[in-house]
Amino acid sequence: MLRIDKLTKRFGANTAVDAATLDVDKPAMIGIIGRSGAGKSTLLRMINRLADATEGSITFEGREVTTLTGAAKRAWQSECAMIFQQFNLVPRLDVVSNVLHGTLNKRSTFATMFNLYPTEDIHRAIEILDRLGIAEHAPKRAEALSGGQQQRVAIARALMQDPRIILADEPIASLDPMNAQTVMEALRRIHEEDGRTVICNLHTLDTARRYCDRVVGMRDGRIVFDGLPEQLTTGVAREIYGADASFSEAATSTEIGTLDRAEAAELEAKAFV
Ligand SMILES: Nc1ncnc2c1ncn2[C@@H]1O[C@H](COP(=O)(O)OP(=O)(O)OP(=O)(O)O)[C@@H](O)[C@H]1O
Ligand SMILES: [Mg+2]
Repeated sequence: MLRIDKLTKRFGANTAVDAATLDVDKPAMIGIIGRSGAGKSTLLRMINRLADATEGSITFEGREVTTLTGAAKRAWQSECAMIFQQFNLVPRLDVVSNVLHGTLNKRSTFATMFNLYPTEDIHRAIEILDRLGIAEHAPKRAEALSGGQQQRVAIARALMQDPRIILADEPIASLDPMNAQTVMEALRRIHEEDGRTVICNLHTLDTARRYCDRVVGMRDGRIVFDGLPEQLTTGVAREIYGADASFSEAATSTEIGTLDRAEAAELEAKAFV
């Protein structure tokens, strides 16, 4: 289905993604983990063509994706919708209009200028919101919703595109644990019920273990682990995070890079008693 072959992205002398190879042969829920700067976002951005690869290829059902331009590239971007940590909604616009933005790729400039949406699209937007448990908020401004609700609006907007793949870049990093759980459960259901592939950059190991069928570990731009959640032992996790004594399951990928020795020792003590 989706095949990523020796995909590389260089920024000057820095190799952000280094010959990453990944095969997804059937719809799956995949978690990508790794410390800050490992190349997780860059990999997702290349798949979606928000960033151009320096080398390597991405094929989807045999079609080369890296060379698409114009309308074909936009069509691909509809097929693999992206969700971000900061939701990227229009805050002052109502929820349902935010969701309808998911159809922008398919609409004429005229229709967009005058904010004209077909009734069937409006009905579908409400249905999707209902499925995500937030239909009652449809007329409210997006900014009036909690973070978890806003992220579900972003998921609804992505679903409006009817994508085959959902790429989520740290979708729960800004959310409290309750909202994080609701959002991860929503993504999981979308995978299971609709058969869509979800590829999700995640901050913490336990989230990857709990919700994903497959976990990919990145370190310094390279994929250093690709396996089942149960194969992700503490030893493997230490290798992915490139940490020795300072590694702790309690620490997030971002925190690991910035821990000082005292904090690291404290976390270590808590994690490995
Ligand atoms: N637009 C850019 N220009 C230059 N360098 C970049 C750019 N985007 C990313 N990089 C570099 O590429 C490397 C990988 O960055 P990336 O954002 O993909 O990491 P990440 O795994 O998503 O990290 P985080 O967990 O902090 O989000 C880093 O060294 C980063 O500084
Ligand atoms: Mg990132």
